[in-house]
Amino acid sequence: MAIPHRLGHPNLGLGVGLRTTHFAHILDQHPSVDWFEIISENYMDSRGRPAYVLDQIAERYPIVMHGVSMSIGSTDPLNMAYLRKLQALVQRVDAHWVSDHLCWTGVATLNSHDLLPLPLNEESLAHVVERIRIVQDMLERPLVLENPSSYVTFADSTMSEWEFIRRMAEEADCGLLLDVNNVYVSSVNHDFDPVEYIEAVPHERVVQIHLAGHTDMGTHCIDTHDGRVIEKVWRLYHLAHQRTGGVSTLLEWDANIPPFEEMHAEVLKARRYMDEQLEEADEEAAPEPAANRSSVPHPATFVKSEAE
Ligand SMILES: [Fe+2]
Repeated sequence: MAIPHRLGHPNLGLGVGLRTTHFAHILDQHPSVDWFEIISENYMDSRGRPAYVLDQIAERYPIVMHGVSMSIGSTDPLNMAYLRKLQALVQRVDAHWVSDHLCWTGVATLNSHDLLPLPLNEESLAHVVERIRIVQDMLERPLVLENPSSYVTFADSTMSEWEFIRRMAEEADCGLLLDVNNVYVSSVNHDFDPVEYIEAVPHERVVQIHLAGHTDMGTHCIDTHDGRVIEKVWRLYHLAHQRTGGVSTLLEWDANIPPFEEMHAEVLKARRYMDEQLEEADEEAAPEPAANRSSVPHPATFVKSEAE
């Protein structure tokens, strides 16, 4: 199978999101994790300890940058000051690639600190494609965009999310970050087939995969990143791995964060799901319930607290 192209990027292996709570462990123990993903905004303006720690980690491990504030889908003008700072951080940590989300985060200069979904139609597609091209020209590299999890759809949408993403990637010539947990969460919330989604995305453009836990509320799922990956999401990962030929895989864990070894062990489970002959396994128990169900933080909101 002649699949990998990934915009020419390597398969970095199995990584975890870099979180401040693990700084001391990483500096002391130098765990044998393949790579780290950083939240770009947490370091763009940072001085002092976060910057000091990041520089040391970047000397030892491959770093990928993942942002939450580009707001590629907004009708506000692109924030050129933000993009310049992003570019400076790329140089500083020698980032392999830069990703953000297919979403908008605010309008009229207000930042909602949330990853808001777009109507999916020809007008929004042309808008997003044009803005991706501008960002790529400025960063002098392809942008990698992630499918968001969502909780609402729009009457103005005329195409599926997977069709939008395929056309966006091809027309803007960008990469994709395929979050298989987000595919699952949205498939429950909007009643579509997650397998159809995974099968339809342009596999050769998938540069990275995200895995995460979520909270099943019974009537809907919320993308809480607060626990283990459930078996159904691992099965989607298996499919994505087969279709892409294997790409850099990262576990996101942003609330109720366990000790580093426990988080690392969770992403290492991915090895089992890379097996072509994966046997039918019993469904894993549901992810451990969040300690406080009334508080379901969204990933984009973590940045504020982590950045401070
Ligand atoms: Fe993600």
